[in-house]
Amino acid sequence: MPELLGPALVQEAAPATHLEEVRNRAAGCTRCDLYKNATQTVFGEGPKTADLVFVGEQPGDKEDLAGRPFVGPAGKLLDRCFEEAGIERAKCYLTNAVKHFKFEPRGKRRIHAKPSRGEVEICAWWLAAELRLIRPKLVVALGATAAYALLGPKAKVSRDRGVVLRSSAGLAVFITMHPSALLRMLKQPDGQKEIARFVDDLKSAAAFVDR
Ligand code: URA
Repeated sequence: MPELLGPALVQEAAPATHLEEVRNRAAGCTRCDLYKNATQTVFGEGPKTADLVFVGEQPGDKEDLAGRPFVGPAGKLLDRCFEEAGIERAKCYLTNAVKHFKFEPRGKRRIHAKPSRGEVEICAWWLAAELRLIRPKLVVALGATAAYALLGPKAKVSRDRGVVLRSSAGLAVFITMHPSALLRMLKQPDGQKEIARFVDDLKSAAAFVDR
C-alpha cells in the first residue's frame, strides 16, 4: 500500500473483511471534525470486484445530501466523459479521499472548502480499507488531493499526469485532472481541448486494465 495508506492499515486493529462492514463503520466516523457539519458520510460506491477505482477529493453539496459520490455537476461531467471513453460507470468503484463534505456557509449556500492535509491523512484510513478489500488493477486519482492520499506529497498532477505510477507497495496509480477543475476550464477558450485530453486519460486507464 502507498505511503499515506500504510499507517492507516497498521492502525486498523480488527480489519474489516467486507466492504459493507467498512461502510457501516465509516457511517459513524468521528476521526476528524468534518462529520460535525456534514449531513452524512459519503462512502464509495460500486462493485467490490472492480478493476478500476476512481478517487475524487471529497463529496460536494449534492453528494452530501444524496449520500452518494459523484452525483452532482462534476459527477455528471465525469459520466459524460466515461461514456466518451467507453467506460461503464457501473463496473467501476467511485470514492473520495475524504468522506465528509467540508464547506463554508455563505448565506443559504454551502461553498466547497479544500480539506487539509491532516484531514486527508486521517481519512486515508477508509480509503486504505476500501482498496485493501477491492484490490483493483488500477486506481485513478482525480486531482491533487486524491494523488496526495494515494502517493504522498511527492506526486504532482501537472508532472505525473497520464502515466501509471507504482506506489512503494506496488499499487498502480494513474493521476489525472479532477472533473470540477474541468468544469471551471469549460468557461475558457481551451475548455473542450481539456475535456478531450481528460477523455484520452480515461481511455489510457481503461486500456491498462484491459490489457
Ligand atoms: N467532487 C469529488 O471529488 N467527489 C465527489 O463525489 C463529487 C465532487
